[in-house]
Amino acid sequence: MSQGPLIPPPESVSQAEREALLGQRGLVVWLTGLSGSGKSTLARALERALIDRGHPCFVLDGDVVRGGINAGLGFSPADRTENIRRVGEVARLLAESGLIAIVSAISPYAADRQRARARIGAERFLLIHAAASVEACQARDPKGLYARAQAGELENFTGVSAPYEVPADPALRLDTGARSLEECLPELLSVVESAAAL
Ligand code: ADX
Repeated sequence: MSQGPLIPPPESVSQAEREALLGQRGLVVWLTGLSGSGKSTLARALERALIDRGHPCFVLDGDVVRGGINAGLGFSPADRTENIRRVGEVARLLAESGLIAIVSAISPYAADRQRARARIGAERFLLIHAAASVEACQARDPKGLYARAQAGELENFTGVSAPYEVPADPALRLDTGARSLEECLPELLSVVESAAAL
């Protein structure tokens, strides 16, 4: 049988090419902190600000992801570890595609955050601690979850009946208990834009 001309296989697309196309470095901005600390609000505000400034990005929010790819996972230590592992893998793919992935998840265990950082690469991973205290989050209690946890209706609730390991050396620690979103956002945006610069 005659063979047709050899067609060279297409060259695979590199991350550098994707980044050049988007004009930014692919990154993971990982927001950790207690429930009610303002992570999701910060994540959405950061997303809006980045898009307005021409930076393609995407939010992976714990509450949203738990309704989809992580449906079925609860709040035991093992389930949280698996939740964070999957979120980390999705964030890694988004960053590889050149996007700025913004993760918003309690991610209470240092070892789980460290594993995500190692998978993604320290130079593409920015850990941001939304550092509102348990007292501040409890006083706000936007979803009424602290009240339910105190009443014994919610098990393994972070800050009440489950641990939160405070990150020792985040890229940025924001006192979201005392400071407003308007105060915190410019600081966050500046750290992210510097890291995303090619
Ligand atoms: S994580 O610990 O695995 O990172 P994640 O951020 O995905 O948690 O989900 C936290 C959200 O789940 C909270 O904002 C809250 O709305 C809800 N939730 C329900 N039960 C719990 C619980 N026991 N502890 C913490 N959050 C809970």
